[in-house]
Amino acid sequence: MTAESNNGAVAASDEIRIFDTTLRDGEQSPGASMTLEEKLQVAEILDDMGVDIIEAGFPIASNGDFEAVCEIAKRTRRSVIAGLARAIHADIDRAGEAVRHAERGRIHTFVSTSPIHLQHQMNKTQEQVLDIITDTVTRSRNLIDDVEWSAMDATRTPIEYLCRCVEAAIRAGATTINLPDTVGYATPEEYRAMFETIRDRVPDADKAIFSVHCHDDLGLAVANSLAGVAGGARQIECTINGLGERAGNAALEEIVMAVRTRGDVLPYSCNVDPKYLTRASKLVSAVSGFPVQYNKAIVGKNAFAHESGIHQDGMLKNSETYEIMRPEDVGVKSTSLVMGKHSGRHAFRDKLKELGYEVGDNAFQDAFRRFKELADRKKHVYDEDIEALIETEIATQGE
Ligand code: KIV
Ligand code: ZN
Repeated sequence: MTAESNNGAVAASDEIRIFDTTLRDGEQSPGASMTLEEKLQVAEILDDMGVDIIEAGFPIASNGDFEAVCEIAKRTRRSVIAGLARAIHADIDRAGEAVRHAERGRIHTFVSTSPIHLQHQMNKTQEQVLDIITDTVTRSRNLIDDVEWSAMDATRTPIEYLCRCVEAAIRAGATTINLPDTVGYATPEEYRAMFETIRDRVPDADKAIFSVHCHDDLGLAVANSLAGVAGGARQIECTINGLGERAGNAALEEIVMAVRTRGDVLPYSCNVDPKYLTRASKLVSAVSGFPVQYNKAIVGKNAFAHESGIHQDGMLKNSETYEIMRPEDVGVKSTSLVMGKHSGRHAFRDKLKELGYEVGDNAFQDAFRRFKELADRKKHVYDEDIEALIETEIATQGE
């Protein structure tokens, strides 16, 4: 089965499109705003790494956002450039104006569909929202061929009504249908079932590419995204480092590496070259000012570091004992065996060799004992500490 998008690209049934929204949903994190120059740097690396669609901003939000989307659209050659718009004519026109500079542009328009949003935020009836969908998707299609429509808070929307909304959006010409878990409420089983039901019930569902967009309030964003793909979605919206509103969005690097590492159970292809992941993570962390937690999957400082003696021993024998991915594949030079109180003799000997020391057995045993004493006192044992320790040991032995 293939699904054809209006911009001529045909997505094979196993091909996932990666839609990065670091510059839009990511930038909406309180305190994460970026300058134009920073946004251009992020867009450049996203384009280089093979991201299919870059959501470059929300053009109506400010003149700065509009300018950023225009500049990114002018400079990017490979990725489709999307601009976000609420279901308001002025938003749609502004987004259209910004993305027209792109070789391939997209308007991404959205409206809330859940009862709680309709009642408390929009003060609109379900029938009024259906009319808004038809009107705003039609307006977007009059400006550009590639139109994405999102049902904000889709996962808290009754399925019968959501089907009607999706049907209206496809009939009006939306080529991508995004069903976000806006508040990070869904479980993987529910999210998958939602896509299966919609794709089953909505007429002409196969005319559109379905998209997942998951927030991480319950820590389920990546699991939910992959479940949505199992339910038939073929676009994943995500951000570098999982940057995004509240607890963030699904992390791009985790999705890409899950698909690459577990092809046996996730039989999908995607265009992102994982070698860029570490660089992209560092860049986004630097420009957003959000540090990456040490134990963050794929890009955390400790993602390829081992301290326990048992693990270090295994790693020195065969790296597959404790690593399911190769650090080089994500742009990390090598695994690091961190020397600490949990390290064993094998790793200590290896570290001495790496530092250029070959010592006899007695000196080694003494040095190892002193290293353990030091590691008990000191949180971080650096190469310099070990060099100092072994130099003293050699000097003592020579006396
Ligand atoms: O989380 C959400 O619902 C969004 C939409 C604007 C797509 O970010
Ligand atoms: Zn979002």
